[in-house]
Amino acid sequence: MQSTQMLQLFLLLLLQLLIFTAVSHGDINRLLLDQLNQVGLVNLIEQATRPNVPRDLSNYDFIVIGSGAAGSALAARLSENPQLSVALIEAGGVENLSHLTPVVAGYLQQTSSNWGYKSVPQKLSCHGMNNNECALPRGKILGGTSSINYMIYNRGNRRDFDAWAAAGNPGWSYDEVLPYFLRSENAQLQGLEQSPYHNHSGPLSVEYVRFRSQLVDAFVEASVESGLPRTDYNGESQLGVSYVQANTLNGRRHSAYSAYIKPVRDLRSNLQIFTFSRVTRILIDEATKSAYGVEFHYKNKAYTFKARKEVILSAGTFNSPQLLMLSGIGPEDNLRGIGIPLIKALPVGKRMFDHMCHFGPTFVTNTTGQTTFSSRVTPTEVISYLLAGNPATRLSSIGGVEALALLKTQRSDLPMDWPDIELIMVTGSLASDEGSGLKLGANFKDEIYDKMYRELAQTQQDHFTLLVMQFHPKSVGRLWLKDRNPLGWPKLDPKYFVAEEDVEYLLDGIKASLRIIEMPAMQRIGARLLKRTVPGCEGHQFASDDYWRCSIRTLSYTLHHQVATCRMGPESDPTTVVNHQLKVHGVRKLRVVDTSIIPFPPTAHTNAAAFMIGEKAADMIRTDWELI
Ligand SMILES: Cc1cc2nc3c(=O)[nH]c(=O)nc-3n(C[C@H](O)[C@H](O)[C@H](O)COP(=O)(O)OP(=O)(O)OC[C@H]3O[C@@H](n4cnc5c(N)ncnc54)[C@H](O)[C@@H]3O)c2cc1C
Ligand SMILES: *[C@@H]1O[C@H](CO)[C@@H](O)[C@H](O)[C@H]1NC(C)=O
Ligand SMILES: *[C@@H]1O[C@H](CO)[C@@H](O)[C@H](O)[C@H]1NC(C)=O
Ligand SMILES: *[C@@H]1O[C@H](CO)[C@@H](O)[C@H](O)[C@H]1NC(C)=O
Repeated sequence: MQSTQMLQLFLLLLLQLLIFTAVSHGDINRLLLDQLNQVGLVNLIEQATRPNVPRDLSNYDFIVIGSGAAGSALAARLSENPQLSVALIEAGGVENLSHLTPVVAGYLQQTSSNWGYKSVPQKLSCHGMNNNECALPRGKILGGTSSINYMIYNRGNRRDFDAWAAAGNPGWSYDEVLPYFLRSENAQLQGLEQSPYHNHSGPLSVEYVRFRSQLVDAFVEASVESGLPRTDYNGESQLGVSYVQANTLNGRRHSAYSAYIKPVRDLRSNLQIFTFSRVTRILIDEATKSAYGVEFHYKNKAYTFKARKEVILSAGTFNSPQLLMLSGIGPEDNLRGIGIPLIKALPVGKRMFDHMCHFGPTFVTNTTGQTTFSSRVTPTEVISYLLAGNPATRLSSIGGVEALALLKTQRSDLPMDWPDIELIMVTGSLASDEGSGLKLGANFKDEIYDKMYRELAQTQQDHFTLLVMQFHPKSVGRLWLKDRNPLGWPKLDPKYFVAEEDVEYLLDGIKASLRIIEMPAMQRIGARLLKRTVPGCEGHQFASDDYWRCSIRTLSYTLHHQVATCRMGPESDPTTVVNHQLKVHGVRKLRVVDTSIIPFPPTAHTNAAAFMIGEKAADMIRTDWELI
């Protein structure tokens, strides 16, 4: 028996003991979380049993910075060849049981697994957030954001990728990227066994969430009654409604780390993983403009690693541009202003798209016991999930997300098969965790919680929320550095809703959700709009168009799909940073491989695409170095 297995067994026994203590004390909700964190001892034990103390000036063929979805897939694929040495450098530590348990996803934003970024105060959005600052979480852990996200698996529209290719990126059309989505996927989706759009032998598990409320059944039925087809949004046509597909394996989170790294890390001596190691600079030879290594901090000490072949930046959509700029690659005025010598002028961080949503409408129902209140998790469920591995308890609910509906609005001039709105059906709200998770994670003001949601929590009133998301916003934000401190934060200004029409799309989405509520399946469960006026919107008649516009600018809730900060495109396009091979323009031996390269806001959440990008990059790199 391996020592890690023994530890796991020990932890399981420990957990069992703790759960029984919790049960006897009654306050399951709070204690459950404490228990989960205790089991985070995993991290300490990992560190003690697998110390990977870096050796200064070590040489590797490839250095991958950041172990998010893209970086993990890339490092795992490159290290399949035992001749190649790969260093994977990650600022965070190792995931523990709290990451693995889908229902507590919302809490992870308050832990050290989140970088904890906030936007600069927004004028036109996030009025419901303290100081008008929208929270912009990012994962800081092996697995990156895939270890703290909501696990929704959604690839995008054929036309998204065809547009990437048309913008001067050969190799990125839908037909060319689909094989890489498939290569990463291990789908266990009932009813889609024969679908050519799904693979069953890749590393990343995709399942339907096994726990389903009566509310989601009513929502799917009502959507169909309203005229939407049932669909597999990762299949032939995106338009329609579907139970959510999730990156879970037997009801537990399947992060990039669990899928790609954990299964191989003890088997491959050529894959070296360094946790709690924060890269501060990429080393670039000024004369030849070639990247040759990285500098990083581990336990307050500086180290240098050298790359024989390439340095690959997979630090995510905020940190990859930050590291490029710290290393002298970025907008000339910004770098000059903070005293960083310029190596290559490129529009790093000049563009940032995101998917801003409206957190609502919320609807109450006449059902009982259906909403995902974390306090509704019963001791029996906890035991059945943790000890018997039951994948169908409430603990496997991905933070309450149960279905997605992808729609067209009248407003859109895009083709019919290119949706512009998504409704995300969540069997809960800020009330689900009694204000202890979601509210804090998103930086919502207390007033919002107190006036709109507190009573729902107190009465345990069944309800659900339809988050409305716009796929193709016109508003463009940006990020920049305010100083040269490598341990500082980039400044993030998403500029949500500077384009007024983005608000109108969300308004159309809200109206679409209200139409679904009129359908017989919804009426049968007594679904009706929660009548609580959004604080700050009292001046408008409740549920009028202007009321909703105010609500949109107040309950502004991003789903964290920031892209394009290191935009991909031909060198002739002055908005781009990397070419179609993901090589930084004008710099040798340096690529960016993560969601920052995505050129346009996609018709999807961004995690699946990050895996695809990692898989495709691995292929391109192997081909370049003739390694296959
Ligand atoms: C709260 C939340 C919920 C989300 N929910 C969903 C969802 O349900 N479905 C979906 O498809 N998408 C979702 N997303 C978005 C999606 O998860 C991300 O877009 C995707 O995972 C990003 O992958 P990546 O590889 O680009 O980068 P990341 O996963 O962000 O990885 C970057 C990695 O680099 C590391 N790093 C950064 N800087 C340094 C440094 N200087 N030195 C060393 N390491 C460094 C980071 O710690 C991190 O591990 C969500 C995002 C958030 C924040
Ligand atoms: C387990 O992980 C969570 C999230 O990072 C963290 O808050 C908790 O402290 C961890 N537990 C330990 C002891 O590492
Ligand atoms: C499924 O995934 C495996 C492993 O990544 C890969 O070898 C295979 O080609 C994939 N199958 C399809 C149909 O893409
Ligand atoms: C739901 O409950 C409300 C309030 O008690 C009631 O007015 C309504 O008739 C009920 N609807 C259904 C369909 O049971």
